[in-house]
Amino acid sequence: MKNVNPINILAISGSLRGKSLNSALLRAVISMISSQGTVVTYSEMGQLPHFNPDLDLDVPDTAVANWRRLLKEANGVLICTPEYARGIPGALKNALDWVVSSGEFVNKPVAVISASPHPDGGAIAHESLLGTLSMMSASLVEGGTLTVPFINKKLDSNKEIMDSDLRLNIQNLLKALFQEIKNVQ
Ligand SMILES: Cc1cc2nc3c(=O)[nH]c(=O)nc-3n(C[C@H](O)[C@H](O)[C@H](O)COP(=O)(O)O)c2cc1C
Repeated sequence: MKNVNPINILAISGSLRGKSLNSALLRAVISMISSQGTVVTYSEMGQLPHFNPDLDLDVPDTAVANWRRLLKEANGVLICTPEYARGIPGALKNALDWVVSSGEFVNKPVAVISASPHPDGGAIAHESLLGTLSMMSASLVEGGTLTVPFINKKLDSNKEIMDSDLRLNIQNLLKALFQEIKNVQ
């Protein structure tokens, strides 16, 4: 029987910065999802404590419990992140470390975008993030990964995407993400 449950996406920006280009891009991507599903944007990454296995207790910290619940409730995850010093931003890596043992990413369809003003689009952080997600047994969506170079030139003053190739690439990425979610439902 066809599944009629609405698809719920958890959208995560790897940047905590107020004027983050990645968060702006993520919002533009979300606006392209329209009626395909509902989106919850994760906003508490900065409130997570520093990961320490000694704090990974049966009754976790409230921010950790919320993070795990949001992931659990999501049918799929969309991450848009910058690269910091040739790696994943610490806050994002910290968030991911909190869910290694609890397993919320296992078999979860995930699409990954990295965006940078620099020419390689954060490719090293991108690869590193895919490696971490793969270690956590996430379902990395085929066609669901995108590096975006020169992001500072691809958003207009309203933070809308003005680059037609980027729009098309994002449409394809979303199509792949939603298809994978439907496949696993
Ligand atoms: C501490 C720091 C390290 C950075 N390292 C890199 C890097 O390794 N590669 C890269 O492409 N950009 C790097 N950048 C530039 C970021 O890509 C740029 O600041 C980007 O706008 C940050 O993402 P956001 O706008 O989403 O916050 C770095 C920026 C900062 C603040």
